[in-house]
Amino acid sequence: MTETTKTGNKNWRPATTLVHGGTMRSPFGETSEAMYLTQGFVYDNAEAAEARFNGEDPGFVYSRYANPTVSMFEDRIKALEGAEAARGTASGMAAVNLALMASVKAGDHVIAAKALFGSCRYICETLLPRFGVESTLVDGTDIQQWKAAVRPNTRALFLESPTNPTLEVIDIPAVADIAKTAGARLIVDNVFATPLYQSPLQLGADVVVYSATKHIDGQGRCLGGVVLSDEEWITEEVMPFVKHTGPHMSPFNAWVLMKGLETLPIRVARQTDTAGRIADFLAGRSKVSRLIYPGRDDHPQAELARRQMRAGSTMVALEIEGGKEAAFRFTNALEIIRISNNLGDAKSLITHPATTTHQSIGEEARAELGITDGILRLSVGLEDPEDLLEDVEKALSAV
Ligand SMILES: Cc1ncc(COP(=O)(O)O)c(C=O)c1O
Repeated sequence: MTETTKTGNKNWRPATTLVHGGTMRSPFGETSEAMYLTQGFVYDNAEAAEARFNGEDPGFVYSRYANPTVSMFEDRIKALEGAEAARGTASGMAAVNLALMASVKAGDHVIAAKALFGSCRYICETLLPRFGVESTLVDGTDIQQWKAAVRPNTRALFLESPTNPTLEVIDIPAVADIAKTAGARLIVDNVFATPLYQSPLQLGADVVVYSATKHIDGQGRCLGGVVLSDEEWITEEVMPFVKHTGPHMSPFNAWVLMKGLETLPIRVARQTDTAGRIADFLAGRSKVSRLIYPGRDDHPQAELARRQMRAGSTMVALEIEGGKEAAFRFTNALEIIRISNNLGDAKSLITHPATTTHQSIGEEARAELGITDGILRLSVGLEDPEDLLEDVEKALSAV
């Protein structure tokens, strides 16, 4: 039997919460949290099973919807985010799908920012309409477009900020006001900012989603996601969806991701610091026609970024002059920074969105989002900043 009392204290600062929050120790008194790699649970007698099923005994029943290790992960991130409740999912996309599906039914309407990660855009543009949920995509940075898109049946507004890959910043409090007036739920994908640098719930959002695959794992090992919101909605809408459709996080992944949470602040701080240095180094270079970093004063929405984010993030976007050919020459000349579509990792990773992550949205949609053939997205890792700067400088000279 595990202790049912979970470790946690509202007054702890984030770094402490991320090390101790949600811990449930077994009678063995283990230092590191136990990994409860079990599908189900046994009961001492038939009466105990009955009590567990009818809710009189609040213990665990089946890992498709609740497991002690996943529960520790959920409690830890919930305390960091300042949310009442959380559900872990198998991937970031499972979290996004869950948050949207738990918000709408046939006949409802969703508004989403155009600048979404490709699979998120697929859910809004293609999947939801198949089930009778209409969607409108807007330029997320234009508040008037959000307002104009509202219909009497609008039930959810969805955005990511900063956006992938051009790092646009969307005014979360302004969109939250529109959602409140419309009686809709605002869902924010907070992957790029991380829970450390942006708190959407405090900015007025109703739901926050993460791909835990990114910074929360931070070492390229496993996929995961999480949906955070108020207790009532999670219990009434999210929980039944998880229980009956099966997108819950596995205990093994929850354990790895929980270990990731312990080191999240030091990793993200270091990666952000290096990202800022690389952005400063690239700004104004003759072969770099655009440099986008939310922590710099020349970011198109620098003032908004300062207002709603606590730092610039671990991501840098740059446009190499000369289109696809020049961008490919730059990426192929990098030695330490590897070509990959993931982000938030200890290893620095670079992506050419137009031919990879954003290939499927088509040329017109890319042009609308400013994803030119020269744009690259750099996720800055934990390597020595001097080595990364030398790598970038060498690659630039190859262009
Ligand atoms: C902003 C954003 N949201 C959601 C996802 C989906 O996460 P996952 O790959 O864990 O399903 C990703 C990346 O893949 C992402 O970049």
